[in-house]
Amino acid sequence: MELQSAKTEMLNEGGDVEGGGQKSQMKRRQEEDDGRVSPPKKLVIDHSVKVASHYNSLQEVGLAARSRSRIFFMRNFNNWLKSVLIGEILDQVRETGPQQVSVLDLGCGKGGDLLKWKRGGINHLVCADIAGVSVEQCQSRYEDMKKKSHVNEKIFNAQFINADCSKEVLSEKLDDPEQMFDICSCQFVYHYSFESEQKANMMLRNACERLKPGGFFIGTTPDAFELVKRLEASDSLSFGNEVFKVSFGSKGFYPLFGCQYHFSLEDVVDVPESLVYFPLFEHMAKRYNMRLVLKQRFSEFFEEKVKKEHHRSLMMKMMALQPFPCEDGGRQAADSRGEYGHAEEHSVRAGVQLPLGTLSRSEWEAASIYLVFIFQKMS
Ligand SMILES: C[S@@+](CC[C@H](N)C(=O)[O-])C[C@H]1O[C@@H](n2cnc3c(N)ncnc32)[C@H](O)[C@@H]1O
Repeated sequence: MELQSAKTEMLNEGGDVEGGGQKSQMKRRQEEDDGRVSPPKKLVIDHSVKVASHYNSLQEVGLAARSRSRIFFMRNFNNWLKSVLIGEILDQVRETGPQQVSVLDLGCGKGGDLLKWKRGGINHLVCADIAGVSVEQCQSRYEDMKKKSHVNEKIFNAQFINADCSKEVLSEKLDDPEQMFDICSCQFVYHYSFESEQKANMMLRNACERLKPGGFFIGTTPDAFELVKRLEASDSLSFGNEVFKVSFGSKGFYPLFGCQYHFSLEDVVDVPESLVYFPLFEHMAKRYNMRLVLKQRFSEFFEEKVKKEHHRSLMMKMMALQPFPCEDGGRQAADSRGEYGHAEEHSVRAGVQLPLGTLSRSEWEAASIYLVFIFQKMS
């Protein structure tokens, strides 16, 4: 499969989002942190209710309907990537630390990662989300999983919390007030909190304050550099394709917090989100004694992990790539040349026999927006 990671360096990682002044804003922020200047008054927009009601209104669809979706393989790909990340972090926790593993799933949604935690053999899970309906569905999925498990199969204990994790202190809601975690997993969630400094900080506090020394904060979030690069390359205020669309209100200036865009993805997402300027995220995490261990675009993460046989076979099992050419034509995009030309070209260039595994161009353009991060709590 040919994955075209957008390599044009219009945006300079660790530096400014071109013309957007984020580096200079960051410098000012550091001065504010040191008390050298006072922060300006800001207009804070709160989209929590919109986000919660959007996720609450999402219908759970069965496997049959999911498998007909235009983004079936992309969702599987994202799930594979999360499985690899979670699996490798659990290995690391067990290498050095406890055999009893506790996890906080921050923004757990409907429990898309429950099975990953079960397979990982953890002992305790706390699931929290702002969307009450999602938390209920997550809990009933867990109860089902427990009922269906074999007699001698070990299933973790779990607590489910409905809370706005960018406003409320989660530790006050824990059944066990002494609870500490080995891992906090925050998958496709943290960007919602970057709406304001207070929210981003509370979410970070919830992610990190109950981590044991050596514990990990892992997650996936859109890469602000990639989003701005695509916006700047567009001749309008939006970009996307037949599966996703990102729309900004303006371009040229990108505030550190509350730099909002609207994201829609097939029938799954249709909400306001905020850019996460990663150097600032990393800076803020230091307050909680967190050290950045890894920040990698999905394309880079994929290219590295797919080299390992067990990750490749999991990929097949999870149907994380689409066979091309597709036998039944079912999920294949209508514009076959435009959507799969890269797979055909790759097969000719690299002498790889068809069929091969790929993602349609539109799905890859959507998936390649994201990055993976791992922070570790220093002792
Ligand atoms: C894209 S979904 C991801 C769900 C899940 N982590 C997964 O990977 O399947 C984003 C989730 O973040 C949750 N979320 C957004 N803002 C939140 C907040 N302030 N506090 C808690 N959860 C939040 C949403 O309700 C939604 O369930």
